[in-house]
Amino acid sequence: MKYLSEKKKTFQEINKENRIKWDKLKFDTQLIRAGEDPYPETSHSLRIPIYATKSYTYSTSSELYKNHYYYSRTENPTLYALDNKLATLHRGESAISVASGMGAVHLACSSVLQRRVERIRPNKITKLLPQSNPENIPNIIIHINQYTGVYRLLTKIYPQMGIEFKRVNLCDLPEVKKAIDDNTKFIFFESPSNPTIDIIDIQKCADLIHEVNGKCIVDNTFASPALQQPLEFGADLVIESLTKYTNGHGDALGGAIIGPKNEILNIRYYWQETQGQVLSPFNAWLILRGIRTLNLRMARHSSNAMTLAEFLEDNPKVTKVLYPGLKSHPAHELAKKQMKNFSGMIGFELESVEASNRFIDLLKLIKVGVSLGDTTSLIEYTSIMTGIDLASWERKAMNISNTHFRFSVGLEDPEDLISDLDQALKQI
Ligand SMILES: Cc1ncc(COP(=O)(O)O)c(C=O)c1O
Repeated sequence: MKYLSEKKKTFQEINKENRIKWDKLKFDTQLIRAGEDPYPETSHSLRIPIYATKSYTYSTSSELYKNHYYYSRTENPTLYALDNKLATLHRGESAISVASGMGAVHLACSSVLQRRVERIRPNKITKLLPQSNPENIPNIIIHINQYTGVYRLLTKIYPQMGIEFKRVNLCDLPEVKKAIDDNTKFIFFESPSNPTIDIIDIQKCADLIHEVNGKCIVDNTFASPALQQPLEFGADLVIESLTKYTNGHGDALGGAIIGPKNEILNIRYYWQETQGQVLSPFNAWLILRGIRTLNLRMARHSSNAMTLAEFLEDNPKVTKVLYPGLKSHPAHELAKKQMKNFSGMIGFELESVEASNRFIDLLKLIKVGVSLGDTTSLIEYTSIMTGIDLASWERKAMNISNTHFRFSVGLEDPEDLISDLDQALKQI
């Protein structure tokens, strides 16, 4: 009988009881176990199954009242396991995984900008707020440099919906203070930033935006929860493109938002439910598989990148190297304070466009391609790859030179990576 009554507990009830224990575990143990253990519906399976279902069915009204699962656009046990793991890793109250990193950025920003509908409880919009004063045009503050997809969303699409933006060098805190006003709804940045590897002071930016009750949204993709936990520094919402380091194997797209329970509920039941940006259970399962080795991978990504950054810095053909682990990085000290290690992303520049084109042609082992954060090293020539949609003045304003390379250092042996770079640089 005891066994039967235990079995009747919902997944969420059991998770709730166990969250307390997960929070007390060390990070490596959380990576392996949080969110996944125990899992009552799995009939003792060690691994979470892929719940490939759209609906959940019930035979009694009391079951219906008790359960949260209705439809996989908002609820799926495989995704919940990932959500709970991510919340634990970031020491957040709650998390939601979505279809991609871009999806996560859009849902998080939409929820923070939402004005007319009061925060809702699951499945229920409680009441409409009065229209805000049309004179008070909301604005957002973004860093001068970020992933081009996010730049497009926040500077080209949101303005069409009446949201103004201000591009500010967030490394310059007096400038940030000057830019914030009473209508600033949030400050958004990546740290480290894509592709120029800027490091931004999360605590100071959060403190400044909180003075006007705005929110601080941090895209943590380049660091991953293994190296940086922005909520600990006062950020309100954290974005992860799970596609990158968190999954780490280059075989699935995904995104996540981590933050306070009410905001995440609003995102799940108001924004995700209507926008339909759902992570497939198969991708959630792949990401759950990848995430278990995150800490080991990030240590090796970081040590490989340090070795390669030092090699590049000493090479006369390389005119600039940006890596937060190098003493020459302008925010090396801040990176040491905010991050547990420096991750695997390097920015560097060559002497000319001609040399840059030759360099691409000469690489043999290192793959040329967009994206980042997986086992395989990837280099992108930014101005003709992710930066191709930007006008030249926009690239300039973002500090992306015509000879900028973004290097995602993989887990190959660093000696092999160095000899590939070396042979290419010698011939340009
Ligand atoms: C920092 C950062 N945030 C968000 C994204 C978007 O993530 P996704 O490709 O999963 O949509 C990217 C993609 O490169 C990124 O580099």
